[in-house]
Formats: sequence, structure tokens, C-alpha cells
Amino acid sequence: MDVDPVGTADAVDWDALRAAAREAVGKAYAPYSDFKVGAAAFADDGRLLTGANIENAAYGVTLCAECSLVSALVMSGGGRFTAFTCVNALGETIMPCGRCRQILWEHGGPELLVDTPLGIQPMTEVLPQAFGPGDLDHVRKATR
Ligand code: THU
Repeated sequence: MDVDPVGTADAVDWDALRAAAREAVGKAYAPYSDFKVGAAAFADDGRLLTGANIENAAYGVTLCAECSLVSALVMSGGGRFTAFTCVNALGETIMPCGRCRQILWEHGGPELLVDTPLGIQPMTEVLPQAFGPGDLDHVRKATR
């Protein structure tokens, strides 16, 4: 593993991040599943961003909390996620769904630290052998 998850994780204010995610749960729009999710992340410039799930009567187009979190990142100036957490309505840490792991990879990459029920893990453990921008670059360069 190229990252030092333990050393870097110690520098993160996880309590502040979890508190922000718990507050964000209250903003969720989840009338169909009644399963509210709040997400929070630090960006590489120290910004604290939050998101919540936004459901839709056409269930399949529901936006996970991570989607509004990424929107917040991009619309407030961009950058990279460095530390991430998401919680349920009980305030418990939950894992991001499979699709959202891919979304987090795009905006945080392998070094992104994720708060999991098993402790802090880098994205390389949360989404092993991830497909990412490097795969596109590889073929683009080879065929240019
Ligand atoms: N959900 C999220 O917001 N993020 C996840 O990573 C897991 C699932 C939401 C989607 C849906 O609104 C509700 O949880 C139930 O699946």
C-alpha cells in the first residue's frame, strides 16, 4: 500500500466530520425508503463539505448522499476529498454503496481515507483494483 492510513488518519478531525454527517442526515429527502443518509468529507484545502440523499418517485434516479457531497465539492471550488464519512439516521457509520465508491474514487483517489465500521481505511481497501482515470489515459496514450 502506498499510503500511510494510520499516520494520516490521526491528523483528521473525525469527530467534526461525523458530527457534520449527522447534521446532514436531517437534510435528507428520503420519503420512499425512509432511510436517511448524511455524508461529510474534508477537501484538500480543509473545506468541510456535506451531502444527503435525495430520492425520487422514479426510484432508480435517486441521488445518494455522496452525489450531493460531490456536487458540493465541485460547486464550491473543486479539489480532492481527503477524508470521508457517511452515517445513517441513528448516527452510525455506514459503508458507501458500490456506485458511490466509484464516485468517491474519482474525487479522492487511492489516498482518500474512509471512515468504516471496521475503522479508517484507504480507498484502495474500500474499492480494490479500482477502474479510474488512469485506465482511460493508458489506452488514449497507446492509441494516439
Ligand atoms: N444511500 C446513500 O445515500 N448512500 C449510500 O452509500 C447508500 C445508500 C441511500 C440511497 C437511498 O436513498 C437510501 O439510502 C436507501 O437505499
